[in-house]
Amino acid sequence: MRHILVPEDLSPADIDAVFAVSRDLKTKYEKGIREPLLPGRVMALVFEKPSLRTRVSFEAAMAHLGGSSLFLGEDTGFGSSRESMADFGRVLSQYVDVIVCRTKSHATIEKMAAASSVPVINGLTDFCHPCQALADLYTLKEHVGRMNGLKLAFVGDGNNVARSLAVLCGMLDISFALAAPKEFQFSPQFRKHLSEVVPELDLMETIDPKKAVESAAVVYTDVWTSMGQESDRLRRKKELEPYRVDETLMRHAPSSIFMHCLPARRGEEVTDGVIDGPQSVVVQQAANRMHVQKGLLAWLLGQKMKP
Ligand code: CP
Ligand code: NVA
Repeated sequence: MRHILVPEDLSPADIDAVFAVSRDLKTKYEKGIREPLLPGRVMALVFEKPSLRTRVSFEAAMAHLGGSSLFLGEDTGFGSSRESMADFGRVLSQYVDVIVCRTKSHATIEKMAAASSVPVINGLTDFCHPCQALADLYTLKEHVGRMNGLKLAFVGDGNNVARSLAVLCGMLDISFALAAPKEFQFSPQFRKHLSEVVPELDLMETIDPKKAVESAAVVYTDVWTSMGQESDRLRRKKELEPYRVDETLMRHAPSSIFMHCLPARRGEEVTDGVIDGPQSVVVQQAANRMHVQKGLLAWLLGQKMKP
């Protein structure tokens, strides 16, 4: 069973194929054509955390493809003691063709995938956010026309989004620079993981945001306090204060684009002037979540349809 739980569950060739389908479907969508490639297919979304972009972009993508979606929350008992994750996954996958999961802990989505007889796609965990990073690199390709040889600078917390971008950058020959206080840089375990899954990654970790953004094609940031870390918010705000992406920092990367996965805490990790400024592509980036996930669904389910 083909699950997409971490970015490295896709190969560079898979990503090329997904991007090609996404491009084709996006071009058609812009001409008013919605190709029903997945008629009658059903997608379940099982979310333990709030979501605007991931939920709605997946649901809209499935509707455009001629399928339908079920958004499942606490009322199904997911994540509670009502039944085991194995029983939940085993039963849910009898009814649907694909499951998109947003879980607090990465271990939960792994349990769900182990039990599921249909593909499970990660819609964010505390460890990674592969669909976000895929859409981000697709957006980079749209803007610059290529990906290889470019540099992406991530300024702020080395979190789930940063980890996913680092892996995909390694796979697609993009240099990755992380500017953060030491404590918010990647853990030794994750660095080891990177050296195993993307040994070719050109990785820089620095405490100096100016050094990170120098010659970058993309300056990227995300919230300092991710969902689930709220009790640590004050400390994070204090430690990450020097890492705000503001107009002064962007002057060190005059030809780069600015990205943020959203939702943003304006005034914390990014100023209004940058997120609303001429270098920002955050709205196009969010729009591409739908186009790339549509490509991913069509590619993944189109290959192996249930009879
Ligand atoms: N970027 C992103 O995943 O947004 P949501 O949390 O709104 O889904
Ligand atoms: N790092 C953020 C991303 C939200 C899309 C979080 O996990 O809350």
